[in-house]
Amino acid sequence: MALTRFQAALRGLQADGPKVLQLLEEHITKSYDASAPVTAAWSSKPGDCAKKFPPTAPETGKDIDELLSDVRENMLPHLTHWQHPKFMAYYPASSSTPAILGETLTAGLGNIGLQWVSNPVGTELEVVVMDWLAKLVLGGDGKHFLHTSGLGGGLIQGTAGEALINVVVAARMAKLREISRKGGSSYRNLVNQDDSFYDTPEDLFFHPDSTKLVFYTGDAHFSIPKACRVAGVRCRKIKPSIREETGNFGLTPEDVGPVIEEDIKNGLIPAGIILNYGTTNTCGYDAISDFQALKEQHNLWIHLDAAYAGPSLILPERQGTTGKEILETCTSFNFNGSKWFMAGFDSAFLFVAERRLLTSAMSATGGFMSKTEATSLYAPEFKDWGLPLGRRNRALRIWMVMSHFGVEGLQEFLRNAIFCADALRVALATKPDVFRLPVQTDLGLVVFQLLDQDKKEKKDVSSVERHQSLCDHLSSANFFVLMSDLNGEPMIRVALGGVLTEASHIEDLFSEIENFLM
Ligand SMILES: Cc1ncc(COP(=O)(O)O)c(C=O)c1O
Repeated sequence: MALTRFQAALRGLQADGPKVLQLLEEHITKSYDASAPVTAAWSSKPGDCAKKFPPTAPETGKDIDELLSDVRENMLPHLTHWQHPKFMAYYPASSSTPAILGETLTAGLGNIGLQWVSNPVGTELEVVVMDWLAKLVLGGDGKHFLHTSGLGGGLIQGTAGEALINVVVAARMAKLREISRKGGSSYRNLVNQDDSFYDTPEDLFFHPDSTKLVFYTGDAHFSIPKACRVAGVRCRKIKPSIREETGNFGLTPEDVGPVIEEDIKNGLIPAGIILNYGTTNTCGYDAISDFQALKEQHNLWIHLDAAYAGPSLILPERQGTTGKEILETCTSFNFNGSKWFMAGFDSAFLFVAERRLLTSAMSATGGFMSKTEATSLYAPEFKDWGLPLGRRNRALRIWMVMSHFGVEGLQEFLRNAIFCADALRVALATKPDVFRLPVQTDLGLVVFQLLDQDKKEKKDVSSVERHQSLCDHLSSANFFVLMSDLNGEPMIRVALGGVLTEASHIEDLFSEIENFLM
């Protein structure tokens, strides 16, 4: 019997699939050459791409060949090449062939994780890779952060921003439940219900004390205040000072303690602290274990955002006491697979010390779901650990990347970025009258400022304009580098960690910086 066109469309991979791989191969070879433009954004303006597409959906369909020529003609010329060796903006989003192929397999297998029964392999693989990761970044023994401990465990989310929302919502719920159980709140007096009433997440959400909860954080990514906004809690961003131990900005209990005391005096309730391991602006580290006493004193949820720097903990020379500190102090932590781990976009790993902290906030089901919810350690029913019901099988891609490179391959990749960044740091440090390194950085991020004594300085040019001119000069030499600010002063951020960036690109970058100053 002849196949319908839709049935045929699920069978055309052998004919059309290789064309896509061919296109990607050509694209990668051509666009990731250092001489190819790093981004189309510098030679186009918003709307240039969109206007190549009709304003309404096509009435009749096109075959894959036609679509691929559209991709070639109308899309490829409008890309920003995140894998380009001279892409040094934001933080990297390093990718690799196993990541690309893993993503393809995920799409092709099309298993959606709603419950274990809807995606046994995806669920179990997620348990396996999350335990692998926990053991690696926590320095050998993931203890209660492992699924197999029966206590906590990890799940894969799309982005750090999503992971943070999940954490703040769960922490808010945990604090309200604690207040409600203690019976100290006015709620118990206001609503004379039995105890089970207080355990309903929806009711807890409207607990009168819910308007009093506060989260604290330091030099945090804007995703953190945003997560607090979504969860409906206050967020106090506290300005950290430079820590002697790291030479970089980092939050300490001495920064947070007095703010908490002041808040309590004003009738507010501290609920949690979000610490950073590798801030976005300067890659600073907060003093994790020093927060233990504050945590115990106020029963706080301590979360660690290690979105960028987390993977560096798989390096024995970087591990130090950090894994132990996370194990002892943190209620949860996250880091991305999509930034500096060659796993491509998207994936953010979120770990909790106690799974019930997530499930008591997020668990939900419907009569239409399978009644045989699994309870084994290998079937954690991730729909109850976070917001979405339907979940992509991202674990397959992570498994592909980790299994293809092995731990030693991932370590070599990370060390290359640190090696490149060290080379740039050394070069900048040779000219202390020209460059200021405002903080010490030690991973793939390098930050520096131009000192005013530069010969090119014109009296009418502000410091911001000079730093912007340097970025513009670098873009004319095809480097994508962005400016940031530090305490109101301009600063250049060079974020290394792309798979293709090598020492020679750093030499070229530094020569261009010097050319600018001549
Ligand atoms: C420390 C930190 N947290 C959160 C984020 C947000 O990451 P995502 O894009 O995965 O939401 C970033 C992004 O650079 C980051 O550096």
